[in-house]
Amino acid sequence: MLLAIICGCGKNIEKNDYEVISPNGVNKIEFKLIENEPKYAVYHGETEVLSLSEMGFLLKDNEDLSKDFEIIKVENSNFDDTWEQVWGEKKKIRNHYNQLVVHLQKKDEIKRKLDIQFRAFDDGIAFRYVYPKQESKDSIFIMDEKTTFNLKEDGQAWWIPAYRENRYEYLYEKSPVSTLDTVHTPLTIESKSGLKLSFHEANLIDFASMTLVNTKGTQLKTDLVPWSDGVKVRVKDTFTSSWRTLQIGESAGDLIDSYLVLNLNEPNKLGNPSYVKPYKYFGIWWGMHIGKFTFWESDVQGATTKNAKEYIDFTAEKGFHHLLIEGWNKGWTPAWYENHMHMFSFTKCADNFDIDKVVEYGKQKEVELIGYHETGSNLINYMKQIDEGFAMYKRLGIHTVKIGHVGSKLNMKEWHHGQFGVNYFRYVLEKAAEYDLAVFYHESIKDTGERRTYPNMLAREAARGQEYNAWSEGNPPNHVVTLPFTRMLSGPMEYTPGVLDVELKQGFSGRRIQGTTAQQLAMYVVFYSPIQMMADLPENYVGRPEFQFLEDVSTDWEDTKVLNGEIGEYITTVRKDEHSDDWYLGSMTNEESRDLSVSLLFLEPNAIYEAEIYEDAEGTDQIHNPEAVSISKRTVKASDTLQLHLGGSGGTAIRFKKL
Ligand code: NOJ
Repeated sequence: MLLAIICGCGKNIEKNDYEVISPNGVNKIEFKLIENEPKYAVYHGETEVLSLSEMGFLLKDNEDLSKDFEIIKVENSNFDDTWEQVWGEKKKIRNHYNQLVVHLQKKDEIKRKLDIQFRAFDDGIAFRYVYPKQESKDSIFIMDEKTTFNLKEDGQAWWIPAYRENRYEYLYEKSPVSTLDTVHTPLTIESKSGLKLSFHEANLIDFASMTLVNTKGTQLKTDLVPWSDGVKVRVKDTFTSSWRTLQIGESAGDLIDSYLVLNLNEPNKLGNPSYVKPYKYFGIWWGMHIGKFTFWESDVQGATTKNAKEYIDFTAEKGFHHLLIEGWNKGWTPAWYENHMHMFSFTKCADNFDIDKVVEYGKQKEVELIGYHETGSNLINYMKQIDEGFAMYKRLGIHTVKIGHVGSKLNMKEWHHGQFGVNYFRYVLEKAAEYDLAVFYHESIKDTGERRTYPNMLAREAARGQEYNAWSEGNPPNHVVTLPFTRMLSGPMEYTPGVLDVELKQGFSGRRIQGTTAQQLAMYVVFYSPIQMMADLPENYVGRPEFQFLEDVSTDWEDTKVLNGEIGEYITTVRKDEHSDDWYLGSMTNEESRDLSVSLLFLEPNAIYEAEIYEDAEGTDQIHNPEAVSISKRTVKASDTLQLHLGGSGGTAIRFKKL
C-alpha cells in the first residue's frame, strides 16, 4: 500500500534539507540544496557511505541542469507490498521502502523542472531523475550526467573495463576504488569498514546505460555511454532516467539476497504466458566452440538434419524437452565473428538442414527446438527480417529464441550499451512477446531487471561465459566465484555450465576448463538462470552417474539463501525447488581447496531428507583427476551440520530429497 504525505508545497519553500530512512532505520539518504545545487549523501547505520555528492545534468550548449534550482515541492511516502515472480530464484518478494520526491525548478527564464525520486530500502538505496513536461516544450540533448558517488572511504573494487571491443566479456580485476578508470556496473566494492556495496541501475528504458569513472580520490562519477556523435541521451520532451542503485550488505551474500533491482522495475505486463517456462536444454553448440563442428557449411557442419535428429534422440532419451541448434541458417562463414556487417538470413536454412523436418521429428519425440538468431550486430539486416524470422518460429511452434550480437559496435557504429542499444534490446523483447517467444540474449546490454515487467526475458550472457574455456586461455578459477557477487547481481546469466569433460579431450590443444567436474554440477545451483544448458557433447554424458544430478536439479525456485561466501574465493548457495519439497546446495571454490561447515537449518524442521552428495573425490582438484566425482548418500535433518570438502577449483552439489 502506498501512503502519500505531502510535506512541503508552493514556491520558495524555506527548508533545504530532507532525509528519507529505510523501514528498518538502517539506510538513510540525505538531500540538501546547497547554494541552489542538489546534493545527496548516504548512511548505513552510523557509517557514512557516500559523502555529499553531485546531482543533475549538462545539456547541449553548456546549459547546466545541476545549478540554480529552488525546491517547489517535496513529497514523502511509503510502500509495502509482496509480489510473486512468474519464475525466479525466490517466489515471493517484498518491496518495502520509504520514498522522498523533491521537485526542483530552475530560477532562470527557461524555468526547467527536474524531479528527483529517492527510495530507501533495508537492503540499499536508489534514486532517479524525472524530467516532466516543461513549459519550454523543446527537445533536449543530454551531454553529460553529473551524478557522483562520493565514497567516504576507499575499498576494494571488483570491476570490468567499459568501452572495450568485447562488451562485458572481461575477467574481473580487483583493485582499490581510488585507482579505477572507467568501469561497468554492477560494480562491487568492499569498503574499508567492511561493508559490501554494489552500484548498478534498474529499469533502464530509453536512456543511456551508466558506467562509472573515477574522477578524484574515491569519487566515482556517472559516465553515460554516448551515441556515436557524442550525445549521451536524446530526449523528445520528457525523460525518466534508470534508477541509480546502491545495494548495501554486511556480508557478501547479502548482495545476492537483495531484490532491490527487481523491485525498482515495473510489475509484470505479460501475465503468466504459457510459452514462458524455465527448463534445461541440450544444444548443437559446444561442438562448434571446441572445433569439432563448424557453424558454417562444411564436412563437419554441426547443424545438419542428420545431427539434429541424433541430438533429438539423445535429448528425448535423457528425458529433456529442449534443443538449441546454432548455424542452422544461411550466412555463416569461417569469418562470421569479424566486424563486417555479415548478412545472416533468419528464414533460409543452411544446406543439409531442413528446419521443417527437424521440428516435425522433434515433435514426435517431445523435443522443442530453441530458435537462434546471430545478428553479427548487423541490426540493419536483422530489423528487415525480424518479423519474418519470428513468424517462422511461431508457425513451427518454437517458443524461445536465443539472439546473439557478436561485434564491437551495433551496426559497426553504436555501443551495445548506449541509448540506441537500450532501445533496440527492449524493442526486440516486446516484439518477441507479440510472437509468443521468450528470449535469451548473448552479447547484450546488461540486465537491469527487465524480467519483472517482461517474464519472457529469460536470461542473458553479458559476461565472460564458459565458451571462453573452449578457445581462449580460459576463465581462471577465481572468475566463477566472482561472477555471483558481480555480474549475477544484475540478473540471470547464461553461463552454459555442465561440461563434464573438463579437460576437453576433443577440443583445441592446450584448452581446458580450470575447474573440476563436481564444480560444473555445483554451478546449476550457484549460478541462477531459468534456462540452463547441458553444454557438453552428448557422448560425454553417457555412462556418467553424476548426470543424475543434472537430471534432478531444478531451474525454478521457491527460495534462495547464500550460506557463506567471499568475493572471488568461495560461495555456498541453497535453493528450494518451486515444484517439490527438495532443496539443492551448490558450493564452489577458487584454486584453494576448502573444508566448509554448513548448518542445515534451512531445511524444514522435523523432516528427514536423503542428501545425495556429489563432491570432488579424495585428492581431486583441477590438476589431479579433475573429473573424479564421489557420490554418496546419507540421511540428514535440519539440526545437522554437514562438512563439505572442495578440492582446488572444485565444488560440491547436493540434492536434499525429502523422505
Ligand atoms: C557468441 C555466443 O556467446 C555463443 O553462444 C554463440 O555460439 C556464438 N556467438 C555464435 O553465435
